[in-house]
Amino acid sequence: MNLLSAFLPVGCRVLPLAALFATLHAAEPMTSIRSGEVWPDTEGKMIDAHGGGMLFHEGTYYWYGEIKQGKTYLPDVNKSWGGTRVDVTGVSCYSSTDLLKWKKEGNVLPAVNDPASDLHPGKVLERPKVIYNAKTKKFVMWFHADSLNYAAAGCGVAVSDTPNGTFKYLGSFRPDKGVWPVNVTEEDKKDPKSPLARDFEKGQMARDLTVFVDDDGKGYLFAASEDNATMHISELSDDYLKTTGKFARVFPGRLMEAPAVFKRGGKYYIIASGCTAWAPNAARSAVADSIWGPWKELGNPCQGEKADITFQSQGTYVLPVAGKADKFIFMADRWNKDNLPDSRYIWLPIGFEGEKPVLHWMGEWSPK
Ligand code: DGJ
Repeated sequence: MNLLSAFLPVGCRVLPLAALFATLHAAEPMTSIRSGEVWPDTEGKMIDAHGGGMLFHEGTYYWYGEIKQGKTYLPDVNKSWGGTRVDVTGVSCYSSTDLLKWKKEGNVLPAVNDPASDLHPGKVLERPKVIYNAKTKKFVMWFHADSLNYAAAGCGVAVSDTPNGTFKYLGSFRPDKGVWPVNVTEEDKKDPKSPLARDFEKGQMARDLTVFVDDDGKGYLFAASEDNATMHISELSDDYLKTTGKFARVFPGRLMEAPAVFKRGGKYYIIASGCTAWAPNAARSAVADSIWGPWKELGNPCQGEKADITFQSQGTYVLPVAGKADKFIFMADRWNKDNLPDSRYIWLPIGFEGEKPVLHWMGEWSPK
């Protein structure tokens, strides 16, 4: 069965009058998923959780994301990256049991007014993801921690006893310092100009990233490395606070950003974007039998109008819907680079054609 049919478009059902009325009022909490529209929280304020990720814990979904508030800058220093940035304000957290009504839990990793801190407003904090460590009973946040010109290219890690924080910041680092990837070639090692060899001593670059926990509890970091050209998959330590030094290079030279990783039927999947700053591009997908690869590219999962620009969005996370076998939601951002706080959310159910993930535009649908 094509999974798309498992997610009912709202237009195919008779809505109660009250629900219909609610859909007409943007300040009311959503009663259906309406991609690209203003998505208010339970207080009627626009949800501010960009480049986000989701954690399902004890019956509740927690949505974490970048808070995009305040001034949007166009500094010269940042022009090659799209010429836009927003002060670090922190990481927002919202909670929900139905994926529609989101209660604001607050800013769970607030900015720090110290220029030396990674959390200073003048730095870059992107794509926060939270995973739960069953052994330590801690909630662990990973994010892309960077300098204004994106040269630092590191991972930030923070930890909390509760899903809604406040998280304690542990610092940032470049992963996999002084070690070669499991699939390194002698040529890679010898090429002094390759970013892999260049960064051997100081650690490998990590820009757009996500973390993934496998069924056996092992954690992995997926990060755009080597000047964004090649993705690295790094094993996390048992407490999820560090990388162990075991890592692989995947999709060499493919310039993939915005990794979103999930597992279905024992296979590992990734949906990622190309690398065009804030502008949308065609998504890519790939599948593997082992997380270490080999990964087989399956092409653009999007079909139909605007498939070449991921329906004008860039992915950020794939959510396995709790208690619904084989239901996955592709979460993406429709970046508005001139007004990043007004970047909207695109959420679409993932269907499958054989092993290939497929996305069609659905303006309004229900996750039930
Ligand atoms: C693309 C990345 O996916 C975003 O998270 C952000 O870093 C922009 N580039 C900045 O231009």
